[in-house]
Amino acid sequence: MQKCEQLYEGKAKKVFLTEDPDVLIVSYKDDATAFNGLKKGTIAGKGAINNRMTNLLFQKIEAKGVPTHYIQELNGRETAVRRVEIVPLEVIVRNVATGSFSKRLGVEEGTQFEEPTIEFSYKNDELGDPLINSSFAKALKLATSNEIETIKKYAFMVNDILKLEFLKAGLRLIDFKIEFGRFHGKIILADEISPDTCRLWDAESGDKMDKDRFRRDLGNVEEAYIEVARRLGLEIEKE
Ligand code: TMP
Repeated sequence: MQKCEQLYEGKAKKVFLTEDPDVLIVSYKDDATAFNGLKKGTIAGKGAINNRMTNLLFQKIEAKGVPTHYIQELNGRETAVRRVEIVPLEVIVRNVATGSFSKRLGVEEGTQFEEPTIEFSYKNDELGDPLINSSFAKALKLATSNEIETIKKYAFMVNDILKLEFLKAGLRLIDFKIEFGRFHGKIILADEISPDTCRLWDAESGDKMDKDRFRRDLGNVEEAYIEVARRLGLEIEKE
């Protein structure tokens, strides 16, 4: 798979064209941002960990019946993926209250929900990714009713799959954000699943093992990412 010109550079990844119009190469960076880019930093080795972890989890998710953009891992940081048109929604599933949910609704952090919740944010940096509902998403023509139903169904399936995988690794899946795209008219899972996009708490100690260590200046950020990768059975080579 040959990398051609760069199509896009985001906060955490670069995306390259290939000779195949249906295939892109994503290259994960060590850069980290929070609060819509206000806080900037680097998490050494993050790119490789997020690449390897996303690929491992996407393969498990695909095997359980949710289509994904994953094609092939090319090296530590780079992966070939199906070229999708991203649905501009951040789809967030929560099992436990924390983060913006606790802040917005005054619910104590750590409160376990009886059933997972789902919410949508409109992916728009200028507006600060505002919270919207499915009726807004339809009004803004971000997705059709059928697409939203498929997205909801897949998001809860992904939650069930991830909850189990992380629990086997001694981690509680608190919440996560995923994104979907359209590939030849079908909705498939895109983007990434990593400690940048999930909240993971150690099942015994309750320690935060994700990007909240960076967002909230808790220290040992790199160590937490490495530990999550190690527990999932990934061997991360030092670069
Ligand atoms: P929140 O509680 O800040 O709304 O975050 C919910 C989940 O979404 C959490 O797992 C972190 C993840 N997330 C992202 O992946 N990207 C973002 O830009 C934000 C705000 C949250």
